[in-house]
Amino acid sequence: MATPAAPLRVALLGCGTVGAEVVRLLHTSGDDLSARIGAPLELAGIAVRRLGRARDLPVPDELFTTDAAGLVARPDIDLVVEVIGGLEPARSLIVAALTAGKSVVTANKALLAEDGATLHAAAALSGADLYYEASVAGAIPLLRPLRESLAGDQISRVTGIVNGTTNFVLTRMDETGAGFQDALDEATSLGYAEADPTADVEGFDAAAKAAILAGLAFHTRVVAADVHREGITEVTAADVASAKAMGCVVKLLAIAERVSDASGNGVSVRVHPAMIPRTHPLASVREAYNAVFVEAASAGRLMFYGPGAGGSPTASAVLGDLVAVARNTLSGARGAGSSDYADLRVRAMGEVVTRYHISLDVADKAGVLAAVANAFADHDVSIRTVRQEGHGDDASLVVVTHTASDADLQAVVEQLRGLDSVRAVASVMRVEGQEP
Ligand code: NDP
Ligand code: HSE
Repeated sequence: MATPAAPLRVALLGCGTVGAEVVRLLHTSGDDLSARIGAPLELAGIAVRRLGRARDLPVPDELFTTDAAGLVARPDIDLVVEVIGGLEPARSLIVAALTAGKSVVTANKALLAEDGATLHAAAALSGADLYYEASVAGAIPLLRPLRESLAGDQISRVTGIVNGTTNFVLTRMDETGAGFQDALDEATSLGYAEADPTADVEGFDAAAKAAILAGLAFHTRVVAADVHREGITEVTAADVASAKAMGCVVKLLAIAERVSDASGNGVSVRVHPAMIPRTHPLASVREAYNAVFVEAASAGRLMFYGPGAGGSPTASAVLGDLVAVARNTLSGARGAGSSDYADLRVRAMGEVVTRYHISLDVADKAGVLAAVANAFADHDVSIRTVRQEGHGDDASLVVVTHTASDADLQAVVEQLRGLDSVRAVASVMRVEGQEP
């Protein structure tokens, strides 16, 4: 009989929503994990902020410590899982682990999108692995497919619903006709939205994920600050109703796309609400689910769908990474590192080309339509449809354009705001998905 392999000893940094589920899964699936890896995983220490917190976990109290740096530095630790979140101390802890040759699994999208380069550099220097599947779209296997399965293809565009809270809110607005605040209140009471939902509703969370996706898809370094970001706080019940009337639904999209034009190759990365046709695969993604639609030259169109958050789904992704880095550690191999060879220029939002839905409160009298149409023509923005809703003091015009650059569209909006006959530009929303 073969001698059993020595255990691989794991340090867990953080034991909150995700970390506690990692502990439970390590406990309940220990034998399976051991068989899949070829050696047992042993939880050797858990770093937390508060030792006194009631946790109800199947591990002895002695495993807990508030000295995360000391735990990482212990010579008996082989692998490190970071689920503290935020920039510091997570960054210092991950760099210390990698520098010491200990592979790291993290779910920390904020850190990866802000300073992934520092982490990747530390991993490259020591030859340790840095895996982060859980950082985007929770349980959905997405980053490894991008990094490995699609490594032989050319990705042209990645379009994702990567924030569950905002998708829940927009789903409720679509289903019930509720306004943003009422839908958010419902999301909060059901536990979908955090007490402070700013990172979700203002698009920061989705922007961090978009930066990570764009970097992997286009082999280019992209940070959160490169991502054009608009949240959903300005989306109104009227926008959602107007989308419905056009056969569309409003979604908060994270879009990363390769751009090739006279000024060369580039990549644009943006997060904003957009109308998409109800026939688009992403339109059927409801409630707090996530989905990412990938378009690639040879593979065609792929969709990845599933739960994007929550302790258990996210822990599933963490465990998957832990198995991968454990196998690599045992075999002396290394997973795919970061790749930014393409070094594409990240385009400004003004250069992005898409379609637009503009709603205007107007005076219902002769010549108004001509003045509005002229504003579009002056900036070479072609109108696809115009619809008048209401009349008299309640009149509004809804204009949908053909594709135009964001800079041209903003110039149109500026001109419209200066027209006497336009009382207000009530809303401007991008329209994505193929033009029928
Ligand atoms: P929580 O806030 O629930 O847990 C954070 C944990 O880190 C707690 O156990 C806390 O200790 C511990 N901690 C905080 N500061 C320190 C410190 N200085 N030293 C040691 N431990 C510390 O976070 P989540 O579990 O929700 O998220 C963890 C990571 O996973 C984040 O990067 C998040 O973005 C990511 N993620 C989360 C998802 C989710 O659904 N929750 C989904 C996808 C990714 P204590 O318990 O004592 O307070
Ligand atoms: N707050 C995030 C969401 C959690 O709503 O999707 C996962 O990152």
